[in-house]
Amino acid sequence: MTPNTILRSALFPFWLTGCLVVLAPLSHAAIHEVRDGDSIQASVKAAAAGDTILVYPGTYRETVYVDKDDITLKGVVEEGEWPNLEGDKQLNDAILYSGNGFSVEWFKITNYKGNAIMGQAGNNFSIRNNWIIDTGVYGIFPEFGENGLIENNVLSGIEDAAIYVGMCDHIDVRNNRVFDNVAGIEIENSRHALVEGNIAHNNTGGILVFITPGLPIKTSYDAIIRRNTVIDNNTPNFAIPGSLVSTIPAGTGMIVLAGDDVIIEDNIISGNNTAGIIVTSQDFATDVAGDPDSDPNPDRVQIRDNVMYDNGNDPATDVKVLMLTQLSTTGPDIMAYKGAAEAERGSCVSRKGAYRTFGLGDWTDCDSPTVTAADAVGDKPTLAGTTRDISTKMLPEPATPRVITVDADGAKLVYQGICAGCHTYNIRMIGPPVMAIKAQYGSDATAIAEYIAAPEKKRPDFPTMPPQDHISEAMRLEVAKYMLALTK
Ligand code: HEC
Repeated sequence: MTPNTILRSALFPFWLTGCLVVLAPLSHAAIHEVRDGDSIQASVKAAAAGDTILVYPGTYRETVYVDKDDITLKGVVEEGEWPNLEGDKQLNDAILYSGNGFSVEWFKITNYKGNAIMGQAGNNFSIRNNWIIDTGVYGIFPEFGENGLIENNVLSGIEDAAIYVGMCDHIDVRNNRVFDNVAGIEIENSRHALVEGNIAHNNTGGILVFITPGLPIKTSYDAIIRRNTVIDNNTPNFAIPGSLVSTIPAGTGMIVLAGDDVIIEDNIISGNNTAGIIVTSQDFATDVAGDPDSDPNPDRVQIRDNVMYDNGNDPATDVKVLMLTQLSTTGPDIMAYKGAAEAERGSCVSRKGAYRTFGLGDWTDCDSPTVTAADAVGDKPTLAGTTRDISTKMLPEPATPRVITVDADGAKLVYQGICAGCHTYNIRMIGPPVMAIKAQYGSDATAIAEYIAAPEKKRPDFPTMPPQDHISEAMRLEVAKYMLALTK
């Protein structure tokens, strides 16, 4: 034992006691300890709202499902030894949570097939300081959550998006490092996001703001992408063929696809071989069907004061062809393409002359006095000027916790929080489109409820669907009915 360990083991019991004394009167919270060989899930079962579960170094081969509110899962890292959730490429998910007020930190998560940490409609979450390697389709994936923090995580080797904020509101994504993924950080069909201080390097695409058509939430707006370092995102695209991110050209620093009111400010964007920033509409992904309820074009995008150099050295073919129309073979720092280029989109760029651009002809100068704030519409902000005085997009008070009841209302939450992560109405995502499922099952909700508890392999060109047996039988039936009743 080094003197340091002795000191720490000597202090530890006092620290723990101190903690209990401080917490007990406030919340009656208990601390549960999990050691190598124990089950984290067993500890979650024993825990009550407000409890903390401390997990010591060791290898934990399990899927942890947290459906209670206010649970903290906290890894204890000792001299570089982490508690390691290991999926052996056999298990689908490492941590799934549907409870509100969930917090998870200091875990190493490796070799799962689906997700490292997936939120299923839980609000007020915090996901910090985790180290995630090759966990399949997504790394950190809160779906349909309100008010959350994703901070100081390191993620690599993810087939789709490493950090995937899907159908969420009021989220901060700060100081994460993402590399060797297809998409580094993706804000999709989400509103009120701050993506700040992250390092996205050696992905296929670094940072993305998307509207995916066919999802229950139809908009994506109010995102600030600020002070990130987005470099060398040139990894060949290794996404599952047919998925939306499989259409991202290698060499893309950032892409805004149909997202509105996006401000890209004070980033360093360099060494991305296709383009630094691409702003485009949904038909950029040419094989994607539209959605009558979502606007395919990006509106009011502001690109302000970014340092950009050395981008576009070896552009993807489509972009190369476009650049040739400008007699250049080098990709641009900034490109507005398809519906993004027109003046009525209201987009602007500052220091335009500093960059190599494509399609920005009708964009105004963000710093010109004629750029005034658009009137706020609903919860859309008025955007004009720098965002430097905005420090967070999280809520000042926790969001109302979601309560999931076993009825049609609850089924909608479960559908949006779970199923919509892989199924859209009319396009192929990870799973087949709902349209196709409806054609197959007609009105037989019972058959779907049975299938999703223990899915078997059906289609050769799709992965097997992960079992949803953590959802009660009654709820499975409700959600099956909900799916069959969808019309868009
Ligand atoms: C992690 C991704 C994922 C999630 C989450 C998911 N699915 Fe699936 N689903 C799939 C995939 C992949 C398939 C195709 C499987 C195959 O063909 O072998 C599929 C297929 C299906 C099918 C068709 C089965 C058949 O007989 O062909 C139904 C029905 C279905 N899912 C319902 C649901 C419902 C309801 C939910 C939510 C409770 C859900 N899925 C959540 C990925 C997912």
